[in-house]
Amino acid sequence: MLKGKFITFEGGECTGKTTIINEIAKKLTSLGFDVIITREPGGIDIAEQIREIILNPKNTKMVPETEALLYAASRMQHLKEKVIPALEAGKIVLCDRYLDSSLVYQGYARNLGVKSILEINHFATMYMPDLTIFIDVKPEIALGRLNSRKEKVDRLDSEGLLFHQKVYNGYLEVAKMYKNRIKSVDGNNSLEDVTLACYKLVEEELK
Ligand code: TMP
Repeated sequence: MLKGKFITFEGGECTGKTTIINEIAKKLTSLGFDVIITREPGGIDIAEQIREIILNPKNTKMVPETEALLYAASRMQHLKEKVIPALEAGKIVLCDRYLDSSLVYQGYARNLGVKSILEINHFATMYMPDLTIFIDVKPEIALGRLNSRKEKVDRLDSEGLLFHQKVYNGYLEVAKMYKNRIKSVDGNNSLEDVTLACYKLVEEELK
C-alpha cells in the first residue's frame, strides 16, 4: 500500500494543465504538503529521451503501434524511477498525463483500441491514480489557442481538427469507463476559475 496520493491531469492540447498543476502545487506546498510535479512522457532523463523520439516532427514514419509502445515504455521507467518512490515516501504526486492519454490518443484517435492499449500497459495498470482531473475544453477552442501559440509544434500538436475531435470524444468515453476516478472540470472558464475548481477536487481527495 502506497502512502502518498497519485493525482493526474488529463485533457487535449492547450487546456492549461501545466499552469493549473503549478498553481495547485504552490498552494499545497504553502500548506505544508510534500508535493512533486511531473509529466508524461518525461519527468526523468530516460523518459525525456523517449519523449524526444516520439514527438520529433521528423519521425513521420512512426507507426501507431511503435508510438503506443514508446509511451508505455516511458511510463514504466517514470513510474518505477520517480512516481512509486515518491508515493512510498508519502508525497503527493501531481502528474501531467498518464495512462488515460494512451487510451485516448493511441486507443481512440489512432484506432488501436482500448483493449490493446490496456494490454501493453499491463504493468502500469497496477498503479492507477487516486484521482484524475479531466480538463474539458472543446477541440475547436483548444485548437484556436494552439494556433495562436508561437512556440514550435510537435508531431501530435500538428495533427488536424479531426484527430483532436477523436481525442476529445475519447476522453468522454474514458471518463465514463472510470467514473469513480475521473472527475471533469469545465475548462472553458478563466484559468483562475478552472484552477480553483481543480484545487477543490484535490482538496476533497486529500481529506
Ligand atoms: P503534452 O503536450 O501534454 O506535454 O503531451 C505531449 C503529447 O503526447 C500530447 O500531444 C499528448 C501525447 N500523448 C499521447 O499521445 N499518449 C500518451 O500516453 C501521453 C502520455 C501523451
